[in-house]
Amino acid sequence: MADSKKLFIKTYGCQMNVYDSERMAEAMGGAGYVPTDRPDDADMILLNTCHIREKAAEKVYSELGRFKDLKAARPDLRIGVAGCVAQAEGEEIMRRQPLVDLVVGPQSYHRLPELEAKARGGQKALDTDFPEEDKFARLKGRGKARRGPTAFLTVQEGCDKFCAFCVVPYTRGAEASRPAAQVLDEARDLVGRGVREITLLGQNVNAYHGEGAGSGAGGTWTLARLIRALAEIDGLDRIRFTTSHPNDMADDLIAAHGDCEKLMPYLHLPVQSGSDRVLKAMNRKHTADMYIRLIERIRAARPDILISGDFIVGFPGETDADFEATMALVREVRYGQCYSFRYSARPGTPAAERAMIDPEVAADRLARLQALLTEQQQQIQRAMIGREVGVLFERAGRLPGQMVGKSDHLHAVHVTGGGIAAGDLRRVRITDSAPNSLAGVPVAA
Ligand code: SAH
Ligand code: SF4
Ligand code: F3S
Repeated sequence: MADSKKLFIKTYGCQMNVYDSERMAEAMGGAGYVPTDRPDDADMILLNTCHIREKAAEKVYSELGRFKDLKAARPDLRIGVAGCVAQAEGEEIMRRQPLVDLVVGPQSYHRLPELEAKARGGQKALDTDFPEEDKFARLKGRGKARRGPTAFLTVQEGCDKFCAFCVVPYTRGAEASRPAAQVLDEARDLVGRGVREITLLGQNVNAYHGEGAGSGAGGTWTLARLIRALAEIDGLDRIRFTTSHPNDMADDLIAAHGDCEKLMPYLHLPVQSGSDRVLKAMNRKHTADMYIRLIERIRAARPDILISGDFIVGFPGETDADFEATMALVREVRYGQCYSFRYSARPGTPAAERAMIDPEVAADRLARLQALLTEQQQQIQRAMIGREVGVLFERAGRLPGQMVGKSDHLHAVHVTGGGIAAGDLRRVRITDSAPNSLAGVPVAA
């Protein structure tokens, strides 16, 4: 199309934002936009933002500042802010940065083409509603382009948990699940376009309770039921899901980890702290012991499952003893991979009203926790040496003839030789462990 305009999207934050960016690009495709990976080439720049920690939110303003010269040179350029900063700060963004023409929240991006038309006409366009209509039903079809072997699929959005530190219930709204039939259709479409692995996404994905599909289905489906229905799709070889809350880890989901072959042996189950006092102050509604017993039950169902998690250190009121309780929990659980963060006070959340602890103490604790988590990650990676795992290959590596893929346990695996192509699912024997990846050799079929 000679007259098509170009859209540059930059994505911050979680996997749900990655999925949303894909859907926004598709929605804009209907409005005559094709993607570009160069901002200086774009007719529209869209930042899909994250509000989870202060640093993430501030990055947006520094990034916007950098577009000043571009906009001066090309007054036709339109600049938009989407995602969680858009939802949280709305008009404030336009006040702080007059370069911005358009602001759209995560629940209203199906209206992006209308907003773009308004911005193109020279008006400021803002939509941060939580509309009644179903965003997913209103989004245009997903296009027909071939896809890589892995894809994200959002099945649940929003959060009703209100952890005291977290902005998500405010930026993403109340928990809502997509109907199972809609999810199954989208999964079949993805598989038809070359996808072999789907990661189901939700801020609280295991709280999924979507309208059931099929004859006599009636009522709602749990995540486990949805996973079992997805597992029936020929050509879909692997299923994952993220992120889960411990209190929604239902028995049927634990059972699925034991007997659903396509469900991969990896579970991201954040606990945030190992201190009951801090967990209570965080409004997590579970104790450290409940979490540890839950992990035991999951491991009884699937002994080789790799557990990952998230931690916050330096939460208001956290003492040395609280922090030691976190270290003790980590030693007991043995994580394969973790994300850990220093607490960041977020405006509008209950914890933001409380006194911060000494930042040096918090930094020191984070360093100690991260050292322990790194050591555990290395131990678990080294224990993979000599084992045979499935690897879904995604792309060429940096070395000649090298291919990179993900193992069943979500480790990055490098293999050289063996005539492997992107999209191949092969058995690989692990031979070596590097800081953030494994190496292996293909096993003769
Ligand atoms: N829904 C997911 C988490 C989404 S946010 C869950 O409940 O697990 C991802 C991670 O960011 C959280 O698990 C938490 O560890 C971290 N996080 C959230 N708010 C934070 C804050 N105010 N300061 C520091 N880290 C935070
Ligand atoms: Fe945030 Fe807690 Fe909801 Fe996770 S469960 S999104 S940490 S409020
Ligand atoms: Fe960030 Fe919003 Fe995801 S705040 S972590 S982009 S839900």
